[in-house]
Amino acid sequence: MSLFITFEGGEGSGKSSVMKLLAERLEKEGYSVVTTREPGGTPIAEEIRNVILDKKNTDMDPRTEALLYAASRRQHLVQKVWPALQEGKLVLCDRFLDSSLAYQGVARHLGVDEILNVNLFATEGKYPDLTLFFDLEPEIGLARIAANAGREVNRLDLEKMDFHKNVRSAFQELAKRFADRYVVIDASQSFEKVFEDAYQAIKTRL
Ligand code: TYD
Repeated sequence: MSLFITFEGGEGSGKSSVMKLLAERLEKEGYSVVTTREPGGTPIAEEIRNVILDKKNTDMDPRTEALLYAASRRQHLVQKVWPALQEGKLVLCDRFLDSSLAYQGVARHLGVDEILNVNLFATEGKYPDLTLFFDLEPEIGLARIAANAGREVNRLDLEKMDFHKNVRSAFQELAKRFADRYVVIDASQSFEKVFEDAYQAIKTRL
């Protein structure tokens, strides 16, 4: 059975590490799993990602940024996500539509519904089947990133704390608005517990 599962949350929430281990566990259980990420996931989408996240592009207009995310998303869906779902696979995607709603819609003040409209054009009105939101205080998330020397700090990581707080409350609001597809994971728990909660959320839908 195919399922499109997206992993959302602020910086340093652990979603990417959890996603990687979940993919391994589900594969061991015999599921066919595709892992991917946004922005990016295919060569064209990764090129768009490089433009968006390039530290030298500090003067990028917020609407330009929003449109680039949506463009990258469209290419990624058409070339990778939809074909995999067609083949009956589980697709695990690190960030998707809801990141645009939280980051561009709320934190960049472009409006959730405006960003939703642009994105529904890109997705042809489709949403993920399940969205796991890794909820964590931004102070803790950013401290984790700083402690992890191996991870590159990108342009958006450098935004001030208010921005990250807005992102968090935006995701919390989205979890209420899209309660049918959202599961909120308390990402301040131990890694093992966060993993287990995420695993159970997926298993109940399989
Ligand atoms: P990345 O290095 O993948 O960050 P993370 O490990 O936190 O997922 O960079 C992605 C950045 O892009 C992240 O700061 C969130 C941001 N983003 C948006 O602002 N809008 C979007 O639609 C997406 C997909 C990501």
